[in-house]
Amino acid sequence: MRIDIITCLPRLLDSFFAHSILQRAQQGGYVEVVVHDLRDYTADKHRRVDDYAFGGGAGMVMQIEPIARCIRALQADRTYDEIIYMTPDGERLNQRTANALSLRQNLIILCGHYKGVDERVRALFITKEISIGDYVLSGGELAACVLSDAIIRLLPGVLNDETSALTDSFQDNLLAPPVYTRPAEFEGHRVPDILLSGHEAKIDEWRHEQALERTRIRRPDLLE
Ligand code: ADE
Repeated sequence: MRIDIITCLPRLLDSFFAHSILQRAQQGGYVEVVVHDLRDYTADKHRRVDDYAFGGGAGMVMQIEPIARCIRALQADRTYDEIIYMTPDGERLNQRTANALSLRQNLIILCGHYKGVDERVRALFITKEISIGDYVLSGGELAACVLSDAIIRLLPGVLNDETSALTDSFQDNLLAPPVYTRPAEFEGHRVPDILLSGHEAKIDEWRHEQALERTRIRRPDLLE
C-alpha cells in the first residue's frame, strides 16, 4: 500500500511516522508513506497556499491551484483508489472504514488548514471526506496520522501477532475484554481465576462475556 499525504506542515508528520509500528511497517515494505509539502506546488513567489475568502469573513482559505497541481502530479504516476480530505464535517471515522481502506492500494490524504479548502477542491478531486470526531483541530495533520495509523496496523504482517488486530475493540462491534499480566496478585487484587486455569475454551467464553458486558455498559449503541 502507498499513502501520499498532502500538507502545508510536512514536518508535523515526520516524527509520527518515524517510530514504533508505523516505522516498522515502512521498513518492512508493508506501506510506503510519502509526505508532500503543498508549498512545493505553488507558483506564488512567496510560496503562499492560502488567500482571503471571497465574500469576506475571518480566516484564510486554501487555494485550489497548488492542491490541483500536487494531486495531478501524483495521478500521473499511479491510479488512486481514494482521495481523502480530513475535515470535521466529513463522515465519522470508525473501524469499518479503516478496515475497508486497509484493502486499498493507493490513497491520497489531504490535510486542511485555516478555514479549509476552496470548495471546488472537494467537488473536483475529493472522493471521501473523513472526520475523526466532533471537535475542531487546528489542522488535518493529526487527523491524517490517526487515519493512517488505524489503516496501517491492519495490513497483514504489520503487527507481530497476526491475530491481535482481529481481537481489537470494535472488530466485532464489541469493546475488548479486560487483560492482565504478571503478577497474579497485586496488593491483594487477584487476576480472575479463570485466566490462570489454562482452560482455553472457558477463557474464550469468559472473554466474550466480558466484552459483551463492557460494551453493554460503556457503548450500548454498538449493540443496537
Ligand atoms: N480537521 C480539523 N478538525 C478535524 C477533525 N475533527 N477531523 C478531521 N479533520 C479535521
